[in-house]
Amino acid sequence: MADRNSRVTVVILGASGDLTQRKLGPAFFNLLDSGALPDLCSFIGVARSDYSDDRFRNYLRKGVGEVKNSSWEAFAARVSYFRGSSTDATAMKIMDAQISARCSEGQADNRVYHLALKPSLYRDTLTALAESGSLDESSGTRRVVIEKPFGTDYKSARELNSLVHSLLSEDQVFRIDHYLGKDTVQNILVFRFANTIFEPVWNRNYIDHVQISALEDLGVEGRGAFYDGAGVLRDMVQSHLMHLMALVAMEPPVSSAADALRNEKSKVLSAVRQIDSKSAIDNSVRGQYEGYLDEPGVEAGSPTATFGAIRLFIDNWRWQGVPFILRSGKALNRKTTEIAIEFQRPPQSLFGVTSDLMPNRLNISIQPDEGVHIRFVNKTPGSGNRLAAESLNFHFPSGVIRDAYERLLLDAIEGDATHFNRDDEIEFSWKIIDPFIESWIERNQPALHKYEVGSSGPPAAEKLLGNGRTWMLTDDI
Ligand code: BG6
Repeated sequence: MADRNSRVTVVILGASGDLTQRKLGPAFFNLLDSGALPDLCSFIGVARSDYSDDRFRNYLRKGVGEVKNSSWEAFAARVSYFRGSSTDATAMKIMDAQISARCSEGQADNRVYHLALKPSLYRDTLTALAESGSLDESSGTRRVVIEKPFGTDYKSARELNSLVHSLLSEDQVFRIDHYLGKDTVQNILVFRFANTIFEPVWNRNYIDHVQISALEDLGVEGRGAFYDGAGVLRDMVQSHLMHLMALVAMEPPVSSAADALRNEKSKVLSAVRQIDSKSAIDNSVRGQYEGYLDEPGVEAGSPTATFGAIRLFIDNWRWQGVPFILRSGKALNRKTTEIAIEFQRPPQSLFGVTSDLMPNRLNISIQPDEGVHIRFVNKTPGSGNRLAAESLNFHFPSGVIRDAYERLLLDAIEGDATHFNRDDEIEFSWKIIDPFIESWIERNQPALHKYEVGSSGPPAAEKLLGNGRTWMLTDDI
């Protein structure tokens, strides 16, 4: 795409929304500023709001923040605005013609449409794009980036996939989950498969259990109306946490090609034990922070969970019997995303019970600590057998980690789908989550625990770990 005989237009549909201002604008700015984008790359914001090009640029500038004037001007020169509804085929036809008119004779007109819209508009927007001819690839490639949540359950995700497949081929579709663009998430694969010392112990013979936590200190922050219809399972667990679990649990891919990786992720998700909504009650804990009901946009008496923990099992040779506990919550006492792996205790207590109490642990910290920590037991100098747990720590240097959107948007422009979700991964992850949604929403069980803002969430969640296990965060390692 980088040659001068092709032009790349990134069309942001839903451009007046906060995702565009907070994430997409800054990501495109940084990509351009660092010279990562093709020479002839431009951005069009599309929305119904009555913006001029300049007003839209100013809107983006608020998200980009203080930058050198020359860098901003170079970016602003490539940004324009088209007023129209993305669900209106006539408007999309006019937009399509305007983009085509910018291309000179024989120049490839490659496009990336980014659906930064309310998910309820995906269906009509895709249909309008198709009806208007905007997805026609005769003059260049057409790729479509679709934000999460992709569907609200298995059935709706399947329906959306089948609409998508009736209009586009799978390799034109980029289902985005920004966690897959995080360096620390991509490092899970490198950590596992570019080293030989971990893989031999990465299984049920050595691993006791796995915890995946995404804890946030902020509440719903003005997104009450959206969040109230989603809740923690749909907002965090079905997407971000499920993919972290897939990366931890998958078999080694046969190559680094997008489909080789996605085949393995999909395979492991398909091996997660299917339970019914009754068992989902015993395998989950849910909570809601005090004061959630007063957040703007939240319905009176809403039972939406802002904290959730679920226990899953993967029925394959590698993981049979190993609990995977996934938890996430808002308005907690910290912001951290971590994967903690506890190894089994030594088979014999040579040094007294204390060594039994300190099994090896591996914490892969996704953010904000961004590193890897391994706990092991050492002798405390002096006479007798006094033992202490120590840890080997690695941290990525500060400032080197780029925003996940930058990486993913560049991948979409370049057509690399490795770190995007394929249709089957999405469907399997909904299949896993559906029984929990059903028990939480339809059966209104298990009990919805109220928890204090700034606490560690409902204490009941720890019981899900079983066998007296406790939560393991890097701070406690
Ligand atoms: C989004 C969720 O996908 O991820 C938000 O919709 C959540 O509710 C956010 O706050 C967390 O992302 P990060 O990168 O800050 O962990």
